Amino acid sequence: MIRFSGATPSGRVHLGNYLGAIQHWADRAEYDGDLYFVSDLHAMTKRYSPAQLRVLTRELHATLIASGIPADRIFVQSDLLAEHASLSWILECVCTFGEARRMTQFKEKSKGENGVRLGLLTYPTLMAADILLHGAQEVPVGDDQRQHVELARSLARRFNTEYGEVFTVPRAVTPPVGARIMDLAEPSRKMAKSSAEAVGTIFLRDEPEIIERKISRAVTDSSGIVRYAPEEQPGVTNLVDILATIRRENPRELAESITGYAELKRMVTDAVLDRLRPIRKTVEELLADQAELDRLRANAAELAAERARPRLHAAMQLAGIG
Ligand code: AQP
Repeated sequence: MIRFSGATPSGRVHLGNYLGAIQHWADRAEYDGDLYFVSDLHAMTKRYSPAQLRVLTRELHATLIASGIPADRIFVQSDLLAEHASLSWILECVCTFGEARRMTQFKEKSKGENGVRLGLLTYPTLMAADILLHGAQEVPVGDDQRQHVELARSLARRFNTEYGEVFTVPRAVTPPVGARIMDLAEPSRKMAKSSAEAVGTIFLRDEPEIIERKISRAVTDSSGIVRYAPEEQPGVTNLVDILATIRRENPRELAESITGYAELKRMVTDAVLDRLRPIRKTVEELLADQAELDRLRANAAELAAERARPRLHAAMQLAGIG
């Protein structure tokens, strides 16, 4: 089984990224053909700072290792730029303009923006290239990425039918809980790296006091009863989801066992701090040893490239190029 997924260094890593994705990637007894990556090329679709991208890429790389994923299974996408960009172009020539334009994330992220970059429209084909290049069978992602995996499926099928069988048709796998962690201050929208208001986003490298404060100020409601009710009590439900995902428990049963909001917030704070403490420590250690992080990165890139090249060459042959 080949599981494949990535995270984008478009901002600091947050609890939503961790609970919706990274925790599940790190939760494998066996890694079989699993591969994970830091999608730094995806972080270029809007105006960005190159210096900051480099810093955030290192931080995310260190975070994935610190979360428990074996270092040789985590590569940085731009280390395989030639392979990913080559297949991306081939898939751009398979994808229709209508398909690209229909992507919800493109519509949301381009809304009200001036000078929208072409890369924002085409990045789902790059993501399809990432997935198909490495022969992914399962793509574990949070809810917001399902549509992009659907596109990868369509492009794989179309290429296979039009030019010849080369790509595995992947499927998205979404965790049963924690697939959509919401902003603590505004539980109607998802916790995001790019949120202007950092008060509702828990970053993995936040100091414990900051995390405690953010959870204690999390929006709840006036009912005072802890229930798992996403529509009526989105703030409380989000806190229960966070706790249930960390503990790997059923959120509805968990909600019934908690008596009030103060107890709920205390439990969430303890669980989040306990989970993040060792990760933070290892991240700081890795970031302090740049040479070791570079060595791990180069080794993983070599392994990933070796795996990817035969599939790229087969696709190029079928497409009549190279
Ligand atoms: N709030 C979330 N709850 C659960 N899962 C989430 N993911 C992101 N936000 C949540 C999942 O984390 C993985 C890595 O995400 P990404 O780096 O690709 O970033 P993103 O999906 O674009 O969302 P972000 O982190 O909030 O960034 P911005 O602000 O740029 O949109 C993915 O599997 C994602 O589903």
